[in-house]
Amino acid sequence: MSDLLAKLYPDHLRTLQQRADTALARGGFDHLLVAAGTPRYQFLDDRPYPFAINPHFKHWLPLTKTPGSWLVHTPGRRPKVIYLQPRDYWHVVPEAPAGYWVEHCDIVIVREPAEALAHLPKDFARCAILGEDNAGVGELRPNNPEAVLAYLHYHRAYKTDHELAMMRVASKLGARAHRAAEAAFRAGESEYGIHMAYLGAVHETESELPYSNIIALNQHGAVLHYTDLNRAPPTHAQSFLIDAGANFHGYASDITRTYAGADADEFQALIDAVDGAQRSFVEKVRKGQDYAALHVHAHHVLALVLRDQDFIRMTPESAVESGVSGVFFPHGLGHMIGLQVHDVGGFQKDESGGTILKPPGHPYLRLTRKLEPRMVTTIEPGIYFIDMLLAELKAKAQAKDINWDKVDRFRRYGGIRIEDDVVCTDTAPENLTRDAFASI
Ligand code: GLY
Ligand code: MN
Ligand code: MN
Repeated sequence: MSDLLAKLYPDHLRTLQQRADTALARGGFDHLLVAAGTPRYQFLDDRPYPFAINPHFKHWLPLTKTPGSWLVHTPGRRPKVIYLQPRDYWHVVPEAPAGYWVEHCDIVIVREPAEALAHLPKDFARCAILGEDNAGVGELRPNNPEAVLAYLHYHRAYKTDHELAMMRVASKLGARAHRAAEAAFRAGESEYGIHMAYLGAVHETESELPYSNIIALNQHGAVLHYTDLNRAPPTHAQSFLIDAGANFHGYASDITRTYAGADADEFQALIDAVDGAQRSFVEKVRKGQDYAALHVHAHHVLALVLRDQDFIRMTPESAVESGVSGVFFPHGLGHMIGLQVHDVGGFQKDESGGTILKPPGHPYLRLTRKLEPRMVTTIEPGIYFIDMLLAELKAKAQAKDINWDKVDRFRRYGGIRIEDDVVCTDTAPENLTRDAFASI
């Protein structure tokens, strides 16, 4: 793997250098400074929160645990890495720079955060400095210029071959751990037990994962971001929804699967229908596809599923128009993914900024751009039985067109979500997730 990454890295770096050159020109700056970041501490405590590196930093370098380091790009020069390796016997300090990236960068080792100043450009006013507010050193403070960020965030959606290779690995790690989690579910484990099986298989600590695992048995599947982990198994596990990913050198996978327990054939039938719908949406991840339109299309298809399985007794059109489809599918179809699980730039109109508005009535959609080759998005439709939303529906005129007997019976299963990470290409979409499952 690292041979492949080593081969792809020079092109990746060239792409980032070209983007940075243009971003600097647009903002009127001479240098791009990227702070890795500084750990944050809990209130009145000496415990740091898990360190999350600046995504702009890990875009350039496959490093995620190097607080206090800097990347400097000056047009026409090699990238300069100011690498903090503190003298510290309390914590593990980053190892000496190693790996395929090292030969492409000029590296300076510093022992104190403030020493970086001597190696950074002197005229801060000429620098675009990207980082969190606490990432400054001495007089130097991140300024995060809007024009620079807008350009970089817009183009970040287009993954290089190096990035796609990283994301294929992140998907494989996640898929392997999903298999272990499914086996733990079949063996009757609790949510906590399944979670531990997942961690054991993914070989990552919780804070290394790209997001907190959602491991939900029975009705818990109806809580969209359920992150409690019950220690005791339920007496009868009828359904299992798992939304869990993996991290590879700072790149995320984001994968959801839903399983029916033994004796839950009616739930399996609905899973199969959502799975079929999901695959048909993945097929539409093609050049020029308007993602917001795909999201609305998904509402129509899922409403048809609900009607075919006799949950609702109305046309898909009226279900979508009246908001009934949104009761059962109350989140967005998906989002950009890469350096962050919910990556930036999902609404951006063009490389200068601007916003492509969400369709009215769809407040939770996170992506409204047209899809283009090299973009990676999730496709994650779902159907849920959420008490709060069903109670609201019950008070509306459309309540008469709902088969409440069936809907009420399905509350015990919580819900279904099926989520894959998909690359838009010039031809057929590349499904990172299903390819990963197929490869194990
Ligand atoms: N795991 C969060 C999401 O699917 O967006
Ligand atoms: Mn997702
Ligand atoms: Mn997810």
